[in-house]
Amino acid sequence: MKHYYIETFGCQMNVHDSEKMAGILKSEGYTAVGSAEDADILIFNTCSIRQKAEQKFFSELGRIKSLKKRRPDLKIAVAGCIAQQEGIKIIERAPHVDYVVGPQNISALKDIITSQSDSVFTDDNLAITEIELPIERRDNVRAWVNIMYGCNNFCSYCIVPYTRGRERSRASQSIINEIKDLAEKGYKEVTLLGQNVNSYKGNVDFPGLLKEINKIEEIKRIRFVTSHPKDLSDELIYAIRDLDKVCEHIHLPLQSGSSKVLALMNRKYTYADYIKKIEQLKREIPEIAITSDIIAGFPQETDEDHNDTIKALKEVEFDSIFAFKFSPRPGTKASTMDGQLPDDIKSNRLSEILELQNKITERKNNGLKGTIQEVLIEGVDEKTSNKFSGRTRTNKVVNVLFDSTIKPGDTIKVKITTARRHSLEGEIV
Ligand code: SAH
Ligand code: SF4
Ligand code: F3S
Repeated sequence: MKHYYIETFGCQMNVHDSEKMAGILKSEGYTAVGSAEDADILIFNTCSIRQKAEQKFFSELGRIKSLKKRRPDLKIAVAGCIAQQEGIKIIERAPHVDYVVGPQNISALKDIITSQSDSVFTDDNLAITEIELPIERRDNVRAWVNIMYGCNNFCSYCIVPYTRGRERSRASQSIINEIKDLAEKGYKEVTLLGQNVNSYKGNVDFPGLLKEINKIEEIKRIRFVTSHPKDLSDELIYAIRDLDKVCEHIHLPLQSGSSKVLALMNRKYTYADYIKKIEQLKREIPEIAITSDIIAGFPQETDEDHNDTIKALKEVEFDSIFAFKFSPRPGTKASTMDGQLPDDIKSNRLSEILELQNKITERKNNGLKGTIQEVLIEGVDEKTSNKFSGRTRTNKVVNVLFDSTIKPGDTIKVKITTARRHSLEGEIV
């Protein structure tokens, strides 16, 4: 029996790619183990979105060197976005690495374990949308489904278009087939994945695809990430409003409240465009939760620009955000722009953003106390282990005490009793 261990960094796309790698390994007779020590093949599925993510991986890789010395038969593969970006340079820098496999070439893993072949797989893969890989999923209530790959947007700070290649949409029929199969296996929720999910262009457009998925009976909830504001059409807003399974939540990264900075970022919308969409979303779907990403300290961002972001946070009142200090990524336009800011300015701005948002998030969650929410039970709450954990349709985590009448996969009504910043607690009603 052969064993594998996969360490995953980065976004949901990477987490799902790891499920595909696990699927390939399993179909070749491998089983998962809990540590690198016990593995025959060790895979790092890496992320290069910010420098920190990259440093974290390289220090892990350094640590594993002694393990390879002790066990020269251990195969080490580097996958994901750093693999794509660095290619052969990873092996030159760390000769204990055997293989480098970019995110468009996951299927090469099969060649790696069945035959001794090349060691670097980073070519553009035009057929990526046609490849159907076995998937070993982590969860059995919620599932991720790729609907498109790559990104064409070239936001000036972002490495993704260089690591994931050009936008390619999967045929709607293969998406539907995959989701029907998930429904048969008992899955209740699907999250459609794409770097720019609402620019999906298959035989139908994105709202059309949602309509088709909404017909699949056993699936109770449909989510999707990430949407780009420039591609948020009226039709998509109506689809969220009208399709009963499409959840009332949208992750719509703003990045900055300053239209000047948005232009430097090549985001292709102004703050006025953005707020118009937000108003429309709130008008059509009053209960909608809106979450976002913000970058603090972009090149040439002045105090005034930063204050525009602060004002935007107050105006939109996001349910929650992910905020990051701008991190120059090699090869991107923003990394060589004039007006790079020192780290202390970026840190101060980030702290201000997070402090304000924490207050807003707490206030919003407090406002849910006493309300009745529909919760899909996902599993056991890992922290307390005497509670079930699930989510509202608006994607807020809710914990409820164990009850013998419910099980993961059930949709129940919960009265919210306690609100915290990252989760809610409630009683089954
Ligand atoms: N395709 C998605 C996800 C992109 S990565 C999208 O368009 O939203 C997730 C977030 O990381 C981005 O929204 C952005 O806020 C942040 N990010 C990307 N590159 C970054 C960089 N160089 N520095 C800081 N944050 C960055
Ligand atoms: Fe990066 Fe922009 Fe594409 Fe998102 S839309 S992946 S931020 S280039
Ligand atoms: Fe990271 Fe690549 Fe995702 S850079 S955020 S793993 S697309």
